[in-house]
Amino acid sequence: MSAVPDFAPMTAADLEEVTAVEQLIQDFPWTLGNFRDSLAAGHDCWVCREAGRLAAFAVTMRVVDEDHLLDIGVVPERQRTGLGREMLEFLCGRARQAGMTRMLLEVRPSNEKAIAFYQHFDFAEIGRRRGYYPAREGREDAIVMAKTL
Ligand SMILES: CC(C)(COP(=O)(O)OP(=O)(O)OC[C@H]1O[C@@H](n2cnc3c(N)ncnc32)[C@H](O)[C@@H]1OP(=O)(O)O)[C@@H](O)C(=O)NCCC(=O)NCCS
Repeated sequence: MSAVPDFAPMTAADLEEVTAVEQLIQDFPWTLGNFRDSLAAGHDCWVCREAGRLAAFAVTMRVVDEDHLLDIGVVPERQRTGLGREMLEFLCGRARQAGMTRMLLEVRPSNEKAIAFYQHFDFAEIGRRRGYYPAREGREDAIVMAKTL
């Protein structure tokens, strides 16, 4: 494990591996097309590699002075080892430098570990979007969380 994570901008060459990890760690994963569209849209898309292997990735979208965290993931074997924290701190640092004042995100109420992760970094619930996500049965709300940068 390297002491300083090796963050690099996500490129088209990363997409298959990112999508494969996404499918492992999310119940309703983004598709390769979703990641490709994010790259094409110019969103802030990052990967972290360890010994050449994908370890983490994230996508944020800047809207005026707010940065929206659209997706973040850590490979299963590196979860709960601080890599998500490193990625989130990296993203917040970039957002601050770019003059962003808040980071926003949406999360499923059923994704308890992600909620615990975000709360650990002082994200607070600011609202709910009813029936926002498809779910196994019907739809699921989104919790909207925000953190001042
Ligand atoms: C959410 C995710 C990115 C967190 O990354 P991570 O590298 O595992 O998290 P870290 O090790 O940096 O955790 C930092 C802190 O967050 C909290 N946290 C993280 N995972 C947690 C869990 N499973 N349960 C409770 N708290 C958790 C803890 O306070 C932790 O600090 P601690 O380990 O010292 O107690 C990772 O679990 C993941 O990829 N999940 C699947 C994809 C996903 O759900 N993404 C979010 C979509 S909205």
